[in-house]
Amino acid sequence: MKIYQLGSLCCLLCAALSTNAQNKLQFDVSKYESQTQDFNGKAIKVRAFEKIIYVENPVDLAHHVLNIYIPEEYFNGGSINGFTAETAPIFFPNRVGGYMPAVPATFIVSEQKGGFPYNNKTVLTALSKGYIVASAGARGRTNKNEKGEFTGKAPAGIVDLKAAVRYLKFNDKLMAGDANKIISNGTSAGGAMSTLLGATGNHPDYEPFLKTLGAANATDDIFAVSAYCPITNLENADMAYEWQLNKIHSFNFRGKSGVLDAESIKVSDDLKAAFPKYLNGLNLKNESGEKLSLDAEGNGNFKDLVKSYIVASAQKALNAGTDLSRNSALEMKDGKVLSVDFDAYMIYLERMKTPPAFDALDNKSFENNLFGTSSVENSHFTVYSQSHSKAPNAAMADKQPIKMMNPMNYVGDKQAKTAQNWRIRHGAKDKDTGFAISVILATQLKNKGYHANLELPWDKPHSGDYDLEELFSWADSICK
Ligand code: DHB
Repeated sequence: MKIYQLGSLCCLLCAALSTNAQNKLQFDVSKYESQTQDFNGKAIKVRAFEKIIYVENPVDLAHHVLNIYIPEEYFNGGSINGFTAETAPIFFPNRVGGYMPAVPATFIVSEQKGGFPYNNKTVLTALSKGYIVASAGARGRTNKNEKGEFTGKAPAGIVDLKAAVRYLKFNDKLMAGDANKIISNGTSAGGAMSTLLGATGNHPDYEPFLKTLGAANATDDIFAVSAYCPITNLENADMAYEWQLNKIHSFNFRGKSGVLDAESIKVSDDLKAAFPKYLNGLNLKNESGEKLSLDAEGNGNFKDLVKSYIVASAQKALNAGTDLSRNSALEMKDGKVLSVDFDAYMIYLERMKTPPAFDALDNKSFENNLFGTSSVENSHFTVYSQSHSKAPNAAMADKQPIKMMNPMNYVGDKQAKTAQNWRIRHGAKDKDTGFAISVILATQLKNKGYHANLELPWDKPHSGDYDLEELFSWADSICK
């Protein structure tokens, strides 16, 4: 029973709770606005609790805010899609993109600016299926305070989202919804944040940062992760990118296109050559229990595994009636996709980024900017780029923020409570990061006993939330 459902008893209980030292963080059931939106021919009516400050010591009032939307039915004993006020899962989408500062998602579309998702269809779909929606803002790499210090460098964004989860769990009894069923969702850098939320639950590494912010006194592990094209495992992603795209020399990177020069090709060769050592050191296993590995040329059963995801993607598209006959990378017979030629597929995919794709030698990538400090704008985060840097006096980031931005460091760590359920989608036409990044993460999760569902949806570029019906049927399947 939720406290607000106890009628007049509510006031007494709320008064008792407000003696808690953290009463600033107590959810106020009465502070809402009724909002209605038409969606798929039906009016969705919610109580909108907006701009809730979710930490005791906010450093950024534009971003340390949380929006919560609860279907009106849940205040009248109703049920939606089999869920009630007691059992409704909490869908937790973030709008982080490019590791930039993010504002929370909203129910009313006109208030959405920039970031993911591009519209509020995600929010409306979730609510229409009986999910509570809670969306938190988070600091990002360009945030500055009035003294001109950066306030959103790594790991600020993930710390913020964890603090928002703590707020939801702290207020579980006061709020409709089941805070033991939080499902995070994000795309790209926001997908990376979603994987971090899932991997790092309650890990002590984040504790000092959460304490400084005055996060609510609660846990921050979550139930499930939905991640679209997560730009993650950043310190190994340069190698993965060149392992995949070494032979593709034309690039088209954020308005700049051209052909790699000899020096860049050498960088690509170096990074490609370094990938097998990283991959082999992970000791990942395939479904048959065999160790996944690559030889010095980058060939081996790990490559076969990546190819199998592309083949499965093409097969699904073919089954749905997509004409794949012009894709010469695919070998097909009698309605079956038999194999994919990896090199030919990369010609179809094309190269976006120049090497190194993430830790840029000029120290000017989004990720260099993420790993700055309060007083340093950009830093390197790999030994390779630091030692080949072309930026005068470029610093190397500290080890701890690099570690804290990579879910791979926490899956399997006994001090972390990792989410049980994972859905990762990485478009088969996405060239912002290598396919290996999502395959490695999903494999590590499976090897450690978690449920990881990875697909590379056919022809999808770098994007998210494009399959909301499938997303929520997965969510229903794990919640019910
Ligand atoms: C995003 C895309 C990138 O290519 C990248 O390097 C980092 C973030 C994004 O869309 O969030």
